[in-house]
Amino acid sequence: MLQPAWPRVPRLITLRNSMKSARDPIGALDQLLAHYGDTMHMYLGGVRPSVVSRDPALVQHILQKNHRRYHKSDLTHGLLRYLGRGLLTNEGADWLRQRRLIQPGFHRQRLAGLTRLMRAAADEWVAELDALTAVGSAAELDAHAAMTRVAFRIVARSVFGDSLGESQLTQLSDWLTAIQAFYVNTIRQPYLRPWHWVRGNYGRHDRLAVQMRELVQAAIGRHRAALAAAPAGTPAPDDLLQMLLDARYEDTGEAMTDTQLLDELNILLVAGHETSANALTWALYLLALHPDTQDELAAEIARELPGGQPPEFADLPRLPLALQVVQEAMRLYPPAWIIDRVATEADEFQGQPIAKGTLFSLYIYGLHHHPALWPDAEVFRPGRFAAGAQPAPPAYGYLPFGGGPRLCVGQHFALTELQLVLIQTIRRYRVELVGAAAPSLSPLITLRPGGVLPLRFRRRE
Ligand code: HEM
Repeated sequence: MLQPAWPRVPRLITLRNSMKSARDPIGALDQLLAHYGDTMHMYLGGVRPSVVSRDPALVQHILQKNHRRYHKSDLTHGLLRYLGRGLLTNEGADWLRQRRLIQPGFHRQRLAGLTRLMRAAADEWVAELDALTAVGSAAELDAHAAMTRVAFRIVARSVFGDSLGESQLTQLSDWLTAIQAFYVNTIRQPYLRPWHWVRGNYGRHDRLAVQMRELVQAAIGRHRAALAAAPAGTPAPDDLLQMLLDARYEDTGEAMTDTQLLDELNILLVAGHETSANALTWALYLLALHPDTQDELAAEIARELPGGQPPEFADLPRLPLALQVVQEAMRLYPPAWIIDRVATEADEFQGQPIAKGTLFSLYIYGLHHHPALWPDAEVFRPGRFAAGAQPAPPAYGYLPFGGGPRLCVGQHFALTELQLVLIQTIRRYRVELVGAAAPSLSPLITLRPGGVLPLRFRRRE
């Protein structure tokens, strides 16, 4: 069926709104979409033509049905400079070859093995809280900073096992944060690029990227050395690095080159750290905002894991509310709030021609808040994700992990980690709001709270 052409937001309007867009891109997009419809042509930041959409059918067309005609855009490929060519930044046949090699590392069986390690990181965070509180007393902390530490520990240790010491882990996290912040700045405020050149900021961050590679390379070296020195019969470590070292391409039977390995490790660290940290932060905030749900979750944990029994991978299906809270938190605050794609050849959608080179901004936040897709879209209601709930979450209307062949490879890893950290936190602490103001949104590459997000953690009896 031929659809009317997608409306065009006049350039003057986006230019006039560009300050508001820079300050509050989500508010600005929502306002335009409410006026122009679910798909519109506009100028991002007043300069970059893009089709922005929160239409599930178009999003499915691009991510799944016709995915071969779409690549990521320079917005994602720009990360190549700092992180190299790994799953997130790769394309085409090379991407597919890598994906086939890496995906088995994230299968259920391996996740079950990583559960203990994830739980240990969650317990370290709870021990940090314990050091600050007594029974009944509370500590106030910036939840985002705390969850960033937990999420980084989890992904870095899952990847490197014991090959990365605590101080190296902190170093790596600091460098990655600096590189990401700089990259986002160059995208969001392109007019500052000349200033960055003059100030030597590009060179400084290039050097950080080199140092990061050297640190990761040294960790690989230590891992190999430990393996070689281990007595015969010692089981190989269960970390993702070992999995990548063991993996062989189907066609050649060869292993990855060291350069490729480094790139993939960098990408796993980046893709798997801030996203999870944001999801956890928002989940804790929503539980603080909804004490009834928090009580229900605490009761579910006490019932299913009596006597402080540590949660194993196999226990998680018996704690459905923990998963539903995580899912609903990622609906309201999708860490990957917008996804970019560019048409690599001419295409058509519902009779509408799409020119080669068209940039698409698939607005995941808009899908997740769409009033026509979700009853009471702004209301926190984890039961939407209960088995058999009516209406069921809409197909291609709920995409926290993306969709189609480039679906997040770490989806199950992340869901496991998020549930474990929530369970270990909520069973011991009651989370409370500090102040009445709702946190602001800071949509950079991922959707994080603006500034700090203080929460109060009160030790349960
Ligand atoms: C709550 C946590 C997470 C969220 C919300 C999330 C979200 C996403 C999304 C939306 C994509 C697709 C991007 C696109 O199509 O343009 C993606 C891809 C990816 N994610 Fe995640 N992710 C999370 C955690 C993780 C973790 C823990 C890892 C690894 C340990 C990971 C590794 C990756 C990789 C490697 C890709 C690229 C996959 C490919 O293109 O083949 N992610 N993620």
